[in-house]
Amino acid sequence: MKHLVRRLMTLLMDNIRYPKAVKIVEVGARDGLQNEKIILPTEVKTQFIDKLSTTGLRVIEATSFVSPKWVPQMADGKEVFRRIQKPNYINYPVLVPNITGLQAALEVGVKEIAVFGAASEGFSQKNTNCSIDESLKRIREVVRVALEHNIRVRGYVSCVIKCPYDGDVEPKKVAELSKILYNMGCYEISLGDTIGAGTPLTMRRMLTEVIGLVPTNAIAVHCHDTYGQALVNILTALQLGVSVVDASVAGLGGCPYAEGASGNVATEDVVYMLNNMNIQTGVDLMKLLDVGEFVCNQLHRKPNSKVARALMGINRNISP
Ligand code: HMG
Ligand code: MG
Repeated sequence: MKHLVRRLMTLLMDNIRYPKAVKIVEVGARDGLQNEKIILPTEVKTQFIDKLSTTGLRVIEATSFVSPKWVPQMADGKEVFRRIQKPNYINYPVLVPNITGLQAALEVGVKEIAVFGAASEGFSQKNTNCSIDESLKRIREVVRVALEHNIRVRGYVSCVIKCPYDGDVEPKKVAELSKILYNMGCYEISLGDTIGAGTPLTMRRMLTEVIGLVPTNAIAVHCHDTYGQALVNILTALQLGVSVVDASVAGLGGCPYAEGASGNVATEDVVYMLNNMNIQTGVDLMKLLDVGEFVCNQLHRKPNSKVARALMGINRNISP
């Protein structure tokens, strides 16, 4: 009997459909650096992004054009964007909170921006100094002007599971906001588990609600790994048909306005998992490990990527 159940479970697992390919949105140069105390020189940020551009990644969030009073690390965003190499097969979106940020983006020839809102009032206030409704007004204007200039817009919804100030967030609220951003003209909605509180069950509930209102192929997941749940939450999303995953090399990251949030899921860990599931990413894991090592050396810290820790040093010659 036990044997039969085990066999049935194996059959069921084997029949779960996964996407054939996953698009990874690398957020290390933005989400990854914004929370770091050591301010990296513009030249180092440029090198970091240029190195990322050689790994096979096709989307690399380059920086943000937010108030330098709020996020000092991103104060040189314009200069970073100007200096990086921008091959035309890679997208380099930048985060933009308002028209001031969009004007900066226009000045330096940005082709894609990311706007950001939150599913909880507490976080909206702390992160953008306004209510959800006010932020939607701002975002609507930014999206309108961006689209007029043929700039593509990606939309983030933060705190899709839990808010560090208001607690649990209703999946319905997340779905409604996602739909609003999608209807405004955001081509993709990235669902941010800002403090990494989600587990497969809460993730599934939230995603099921969003998938009811927004096409699955327009949904991305953005999992911080505070509680070590990011990979399993990503797997849950893949099982529901999501095929866009945000990740940060070396697991850097966090939001300065989300207390207790740690880094994003490490890109190396996502690529390792997907490689071993025969899901294409186009990303070269060994090159990515080198970039992770480079940026960690600059920040005087160890990578948060488990795969990096396993494969660098003593295990480096074991095939991934
Ligand atoms: P505010 O203080 O209400 O704005 O902040 P303000 O309009 O009163 O401006 C204050 C000062 O900032 C003024 O300068 C403005 O000119 C300047 P002053 O006159 O005092 O010298 N300013 C700007 N400067 C450059 N670029 C701009 C800009 N805007 C204003 N774009 C504001 C409101 C939205 C600007 C502020 O709250 C802000 O910048 N917030 C961004 C915070 C942030 O970047 N958080 C992290 C990113 S979100 C995130 O990490 C979550 C995510 O990863 C998903 C997830 O994990 O859930 C995306
Ligand atoms: Mg984030």
